Amino acid sequence: MSLRLAIDGGERAVKTPLPPMFPGGMRIGAEEEQAVLNVLRSRRLFRYYGPAPGPSQTDLFEQEFAAHMGTAYALAVSSGTAALMCAMAALGVGPGDEVIVPAYTWIATASAVVALGAVPVIAEIDESLTIDPADVECKITPHTRAITAVHMRGSPCRMDALTEIAHRHNVSLIEDVAQAAGASFRGKRLGAWGDAGAFSLQFNKIITSGEGGVVLTNSHALYKRAIMYHDVVGGYRHHIPPDEILPGVNFRMNELQAAIALAQLGKLEGILADMRRNHAAIVERIADCARSAGILLRRLNDPTGDAGLALVLLLPSAECTRWAVDALRAEGVGAMALYRPDVEDYHVYRYWAPIMNQKTWTEQGGPWRWAARTIEYAPDMCPRSLDLLSRALHLNVSPDLSEAQIEEVATALNKVLEAL
Ligand SMILES: Cc1ncc(COP(=O)(O)O)c(C=O)c1O
Repeated sequence: MSLRLAIDGGERAVKTPLPPMFPGGMRIGAEEEQAVLNVLRSRRLFRYYGPAPGPSQTDLFEQEFAAHMGTAYALAVSSGTAALMCAMAALGVGPGDEVIVPAYTWIATASAVVALGAVPVIAEIDESLTIDPADVECKITPHTRAITAVHMRGSPCRMDALTEIAHRHNVSLIEDVAQAAGASFRGKRLGAWGDAGAFSLQFNKIITSGEGGVVLTNSHALYKRAIMYHDVVGGYRHHIPPDEILPGVNFRMNELQAAIALAQLGKLEGILADMRRNHAAIVERIADCARSAGILLRRLNDPTGDAGLALVLLLPSAECTRWAVDALRAEGVGAMALYRPDVEDYHVYRYWAPIMNQKTWTEQGGPWRWAARTIEYAPDMCPRSLDLLSRALHLNVSPDLSEAQIEEVATALNKVLEAL
């Protein structure tokens, strides 16, 4: 028997506000408090020195992060954008180069390319809402230096296909793991597949230190170059011979951030397990209604490795999705469409204003003038991505949903799916 929709005056399915989507942030507790207090009391806020002897929190965090993700090296930095820039600088991305990025990612992925003097080339996404390997192949030119695989909303890209393409064309593969810390593809953690992985610890992310980032790699040569880029005297500090030292900036992490990040890393598996359990519970409860309505979930390239932080349904049309968003919001579920032509959202390429308009910091030069060929962008250049995103109905799946809230969210979804 179908229930009356809240949008039509029926009772709301969700009775109490759902938890805010700050997975690690909402679990800040005694461990983070104690870790910060320890650092403050030691008066050592800087990773390289201070009054307290012994290893720094940043060193410890790097060691544990690399071990957790299964790589030889991790470098803690100040943000996910900084991590992307360090990874790209380490790989030698620079003026004249092209870097392939997906049409759906936070603008930072493309901005990092431009910051290095290279140009982003935008590729379509597929039904997983991650970069489409087939379109990547079409976008490769003799000037392509790297491919950026962005694991959007906790979901792994097709790393097997992307690795094969990168090898065959002799280009680098960078993973942007900002939204998918701890998730995996075929049993191997994301960030460990590519030449380098870039993580963010900004407050929305699965684990957080407010701001922060990590570069992951198995290559000692790349690690050394990333160290030099992230710290103006990183080369000197790490005893690299002066004639090999390259110029750097300052993207260092401080000890307070590292102490929080270390405490959060200890909570990562618990957060992932809870999100995955909640995701599975909702999917199970809506499976019949979704099947009857002919609605599919976004494709998961590895359902086991998925972080479970987002439930995304692909509806038949953008109009349908917009109606479902309104209906779900009336039920008390904060759903959204991933693309609406009337809503500016810097996760969708057509709203990347400085990229679309090829803005640079100087009149004389800049990435697009240094490019080896003319690069053009247009708002409708990735029609498949816009179509998929406009039909994508997105719900956050908090690790902190109660059993009752899982039932309520599923009820809300079933009411709306039945009415479609
Ligand atoms: C996919 C993606 N890449 C990169 C970033 C940049 O990270 P940050 O904000 O830490 O610089 C973010 C998050 O903001 C992101 O979601």
